[in-house]
Amino acid sequence: MSLPIIFDTDPGVDDAQAIALLFADPAFEVIGLTTTFGNVPVSTATRNALLLTELAGRDTPVAAGVAEPLVKPAGNHALHVHGQDGLGNQQLPAPRQVPHTLDAAHFIVEQTRLRPGEITLVAVGPLGNLALALALDPTVAERIREVVVMGGAIVEPGNVTPVAEANIFSDPHAAARVFAAPWPLTLVGLDATHRAVLDPPRLQRIAARQGALGEVLARSYDFYADFYRSVKDIDGCHPHDSCALAYLRRPELFHTARGHLSVGTEGLAEGQTFFAPEGRAYLDGRWSGNPLVTVCLGMDGAAMVAWMEEVLTATER
Ligand code: BDR
Ligand code: CA
Repeated sequence: MSLPIIFDTDPGVDDAQAIALLFADPAFEVIGLTTTFGNVPVSTATRNALLLTELAGRDTPVAAGVAEPLVKPAGNHALHVHGQDGLGNQQLPAPRQVPHTLDAAHFIVEQTRLRPGEITLVAVGPLGNLALALALDPTVAERIREVVVMGGAIVEPGNVTPVAEANIFSDPHAAARVFAAPWPLTLVGLDATHRAVLDPPRLQRIAARQGALGEVLARSYDFYADFYRSVKDIDGCHPHDSCALAYLRRPELFHTARGHLSVGTEGLAEGQTFFAPEGRAYLDGRWSGNPLVTVCLGMDGAAMVAWMEEVLTATER
């Protein structure tokens, strides 16, 4: 089985864990990483994506993407969660590689023209690159095999506002365009990702098998887990972005439903994801105008982190 992937990311501590998984699981064929602002400015996200790729021993293309939201004013990055460098404040070397000549949106459009119907787009940051790819060429939606978005919260409370999850809140207008596009899409939001906790012993076992990449994962994890200890009663972190990859490889761990997704773009509901289950008639059609998608409403978190460890310890780097 080979799953060609473009991974759209804002590394970011949990993004880094997912990037390690992406390169460790032989089922994934990583066509490219595309970067966005989010946890950190896009320049930092791109630097980290290049460095993590190198530490994984790959020369996969990294295409730099959007630096700010499509419509709303640029806000703060999550440096208190991920560190000034996005990886928990460590002495990181500069990457040797440089970004791809194409920007992220053009890269997505180009690759889907080269391999129509084959590519799965996994987006684990704010959704501006996907929205721009749709604007450049709306037929990109027909050429994507599947879109998996880590973002949103259906029943679970938000993590940056009482109702909004960080990736969607960072660019709700981009999310609105992505949810309105006619491509097969699955949302892996906090309803799933909050079920998993990556605890310190498991992370240590993972890091010990990941060589130089493992050292970066371990140091960044310490900073991220400290943040979680300060805001939640858990010992460890939620490996949000890795859950999007788990959905592709272990779908049986997820509880899903079909329906229509929309997003609030202003006021108290800014960044909130609204889910109208398939076939349910509400007072009017406002919540059911978008195409049908799949949302994850739960996940076997213990099995998910066990899968992460299995993949990341299978071979020593
Ligand atoms: C999401 O927001 C970011 O901080 C994480 O990397 C993840 O993609 C979780 O809400
Ligand atoms: Ca992320």
